[in-house]
Amino acid sequence: MRILIINGPNLNLLGERETNIYGSETLDQINNWILNHELCKDFDIKFFQSNSEGKIIDFLHSNRKNSDYCLINPGALTHYSYSLRDAIVACQIPTIEIHLSDIHKRENFRKISVIKSVCLEQIYGRGKEGYIIAIKRILEEKL
Ligand code: DQA
Repeated sequence: MRILIINGPNLNLLGERETNIYGSETLDQINNWILNHELCKDFDIKFFQSNSEGKIIDFLHSNRKNSDYCLINPGALTHYSYSLRDAIVACQIPTIEIHLSDIHKRENFRKISVIKSVCLEQIYGRGKEGYIIAIKRILEEKL
């Protein structure tokens, strides 16, 4: 199973950014934790992070024919990026939306996700565990 794990703007600063909300681990530490998780042993995982909307869309385009699933934490793009939404639809890679924090208990603008309805599921408020919950959904429910 080939899985893309994409993180959007400002997630490269995990570990130093609002640690009270996002925790003290860096993105590299989280990615390594995912990679070494026993549920991920047989997966071919490709990680990507960018602060640029266009680069994330280009990455989806170039992997659209060779990926089975995509897990994406689009950061703030979640709340307004119709281009990202269109890319998810256009690329036809089944996608799960993930947020480390509970976006439904924060500022009002974070409650809105313009990609939610084109994703299989939205997972939020579970920290790094959210990525594994998504992997479990893929495995158990064969979404
Ligand atoms: C986030 C929530 C977003 O609102 C925010 O802009 C982020 C991170 C999360 O993981 O909780 O950058 O996606």
